[in-house]
Amino acid sequence: MSVWKLNNSHVQYFKWLLGSESAVIDGVSKDATADLEAFNCDWMRKYRGHTKLVLRPRSTGEVSRIMKYCSDNMLAVVPQGGNTGLVGGSIPVFDEIVVSTARLNNIRSFDEVSGVLVADAGCILEVVDRHLAERSYTFPLDLGAKGSCHIGGNLATNAGGLRLLRYGSLHGNVLGIEAVLPNGTVVDELSTLRKNNTGYDLKQLFIGAEGTIGIITGVSILCPQRPKAVNVAYFGLENFEKARLAFREAKRHLSEVLSAFELMDGGSQDLVEKVTNNRPPLKGKYPFYCLIETSGSNKEHDDEKLGGYLEFVLNEHLISDGVLAQDETQVRSLWSWREGIPECLGHWGGVYKYDVSIPLPELYQLVDDTRARLSSVGLIGDDENFPVVGVVGYGHMGDSNLHLNVSTRGFDKEVEKQLEPFVYEWVQKRNGSISAEHGLGIAKKPFIGYSRSHKMLNMMKDIKNLYDPVRRAIPDGLSTVANVYNQNE
Ligand code: FAD
Ligand code: MLT
Ligand code: ZN
Repeated sequence: MSVWKLNNSHVQYFKWLLGSESAVIDGVSKDATADLEAFNCDWMRKYRGHTKLVLRPRSTGEVSRIMKYCSDNMLAVVPQGGNTGLVGGSIPVFDEIVVSTARLNNIRSFDEVSGVLVADAGCILEVVDRHLAERSYTFPLDLGAKGSCHIGGNLATNAGGLRLLRYGSLHGNVLGIEAVLPNGTVVDELSTLRKNNTGYDLKQLFIGAEGTIGIITGVSILCPQRPKAVNVAYFGLENFEKARLAFREAKRHLSEVLSAFELMDGGSQDLVEKVTNNRPPLKGKYPFYCLIETSGSNKEHDDEKLGGYLEFVLNEHLISDGVLAQDETQVRSLWSWREGIPECLGHWGGVYKYDVSIPLPELYQLVDDTRARLSSVGLIGDDENFPVVGVVGYGHMGDSNLHLNVSTRGFDKEVEKQLEPFVYEWVQKRNGSISAEHGLGIAKKPFIGYSRSHKMLNMMKDIKNLYDPVRRAIPDGLSTVANVYNQNE
């Protein structure tokens, strides 16, 4: 076993390779526990890592040499971007070396005619979007973690976010990828072409692979024009069926200017109110709320369309009350009632997060059924004797993507036993997906069979073994890249 154990001579090699003290956080030859903490703990504080070494390369060449050395010496690594993932995938839950992309943070080029951006994988999403805003463009992905997540992490998780409805998935927008395979080979596919039908489109394998077949170091992506006019409306509804019909009508009335349609249940909005103490956008309380955004190039045209839509849904009694943002501050404030939900849910200590795709008619039923199940066994209540604080649902209704969240006073095995595999079985019965956009990580990996057949799983394993053959030679609990397929295979 000692051949796979990280030792001081490995650390000395990495210090020599990366050349600067600050590029290596070394917990092998000295105590660096405090410096390593941020890399060993996830955003939800649910998963614990045990890394003793973090490497922060500055170039693709350095990543390549790190990976070659790790492969030759059978050292396991896990790539880490902004560490905002919600399934534990970026955490070195065994004793992997963390390869952080934080210093791969240069914007390489931007073409103002084609809208093609080429950037290092470690650029922070919000920084890239600001760069694009100065040139009247926008990144085709937006999400609540934009201030911390890296664009390489976004690709690795195939993040969906708030405007997938408008701009589509990263599988469509990414034009090229530069990546380093586990053996150190650099995959140079940083094409800026929109069309290239010459054989397999291999870059797609890296999008959503969660670092299992290589580390993404560069990204080429097609960016849309930044909308000149943005409208946001927030409204209350009596039931889920009305929300569904309001979405149907939004597509009909707003078609090309519709850029987001988000659903929030009353419970999620009550939690945000409780935690932030902010005054809710509407006077009355409703079981459901929707946030709708239009983005276009002609304000008058969009105002007229949105006005027509709101008049229609009010007259048809689909919505009960609503508010339309009058300026940029109000736009941000209305969005905060949606984007602020994840942070508020963790307020009591723990949160069980399920990110599922379900056919739209039954989207919300999962929340009701989960709440009923936890109630029937006496786990939900207002005081501290009950572990569960609330069961809420929200999400990207425009993409049939529900976020079922169970907020708790701490991570609790009794609660978990009631939720899993119950939630996964429920989703499987409806031919849904147990992970719509967050990925598998270590949280969902044991349950992949609820969404993929044995045949598909075997094809995935073949791909993993092709690109990461060394992993086959080392014992369970270690992987040469990330930790999706490394246990109980
Ligand atoms: P990390 O968390 O560091 O890593 C995630 C996974 O990718 C890990 O498996 C890691 O090993 C791997 N990885 C990271 N970088 C690389 C790389 N360069 N090459 C190869 N593998 C790599 N997700 C959504 O899809 N939609 C949302 O709307 C959304 N909203 C969020 C809101 C909040 C408040 C938070 C905290 C999270 C949200 N997420 C959302 C989840 C998360 O932000 C995304 O998954 C994001 O894309 C992760 O990027 P990251 O850089 O933080 O990656
Ligand atoms: C979101 O849509 O807010 C994110 O996916 C995070 C979450 O699920 O809480
Ligand atoms: Zn989401």
